[in-house]
Amino acid sequence: MKNDLFLRALKGETVERPPVWMMRQAGRYLPEFMAIREKYDFFTRCRTPELASEITVQPIRRYGMDVAILFSDILVIPQAMNIEVQMKPNFGPYLPNPIRDQKGVDEVIVPDVNVELDYVMQAIKATKELLNDEVPLIGFAGSPWTILCYCVQGQGSKSFDKAKKFCFTNPIAAHQLLQKITDTTIAYLKAKVKAGVNAVQVFDSWGGMLSPVDYQEFSWKYINQIIEALKDDAPVISFAKGCWYALEEMSNSNASALGVDWTVTPEVARKLTNNKITLQGNFDPTRLYSPPTEIKKMVHTMIDAFGKDKYIVNLGHGILPDIPLENAKAFIDAVKEYKS
Ligand code: CP3
Repeated sequence: MKNDLFLRALKGETVERPPVWMMRQAGRYLPEFMAIREKYDFFTRCRTPELASEITVQPIRRYGMDVAILFSDILVIPQAMNIEVQMKPNFGPYLPNPIRDQKGVDEVIVPDVNVELDYVMQAIKATKELLNDEVPLIGFAGSPWTILCYCVQGQGSKSFDKAKKFCFTNPIAAHQLLQKITDTTIAYLKAKVKAGVNAVQVFDSWGGMLSPVDYQEFSWKYINQIIEALKDDAPVISFAKGCWYALEEMSNSNASALGVDWTVTPEVARKLTNNKITLQGNFDPTRLYSPPTEIKKMVHTMIDAFGKDKYIVNLGHGILPDIPLENAKAFIDAVKEYKS
């Protein structure tokens, strides 16, 4: 690997500067992505290896991040599990037949990922060729809880109230569903590593919807199963948005890094994790609206606060679609210009 900063940071090795990438860097805001988006609908882009690999490398070509993340979506998992998922323009994910009872859970299958999700493996192989060992490639999945949120709610939500209602009124069925998703996700991430990804990230985007106690029962328990199953295959990054309260426990797991959002200071995050694990984050994505000179200053302050080692510079959540190109560039350049 010509640029191994990211892999070294995951091992906690001393680096000249921390590596940098942005969550949701593939797609969303680049004009070259919008051109592809006009011609092909969302799941066609995911299912066509030439398109998915091209979208994956676009931000690397433009900005030179230290790692690529495969263009795909967390919702390819429920699709493969026999749950219909649509991506509606200007609306987001829509599942016309949400799971609301035991019968719904019974109908969910644990698929052969090498058959149902073969297109993802082909996209990884095509991407590895394009990347030519310049930078590593991240594969990802949603956390079982975050996937359950969509499967039960049927769409995005500010509270995921229907998903929580299902868990609290029908916990046996909810746990069966979480376990099916976990089993599928483990097989899926293992297949992705076999196909060529160098690390995996689990996105628990909606973990913060749960209380600390419920987080243990309905989310972390399953994420930890994934970490344990993958630990000998590839480094695992666990990103749990809104879950700073679980950082200490997560730091005791076999994850290689923990993602943090901007609601926790670097100092508190380091303290909670006893400075023993690599942290990734945590720039407020809306701070990319600030002028480029200010962005650069804030990035340098952030690196000083986390420390350059055991650290991966990132946003605290995905980049927003209307961030000016020069502002995204300022974020990446600031890291490359960093001198300790
Ligand atoms: O990081 C990357 O750039 C890789 C690609 C990626 C996408 N989705 C592409 C995408 C990744 C890592 C995801 C993960 C994802 N998908 C998450 C977890 C991360 C997070 O942001 O919390 C979630 C919750 C989803 C579900 C999802 N997919 C939603 C809510 C939406 C609609 C709104 C949006 O843009 O976030 C999608 C669609 C989607 N996934 C788009 C892209 C580029 C935009 C739709 C389009 O291009 O037509």
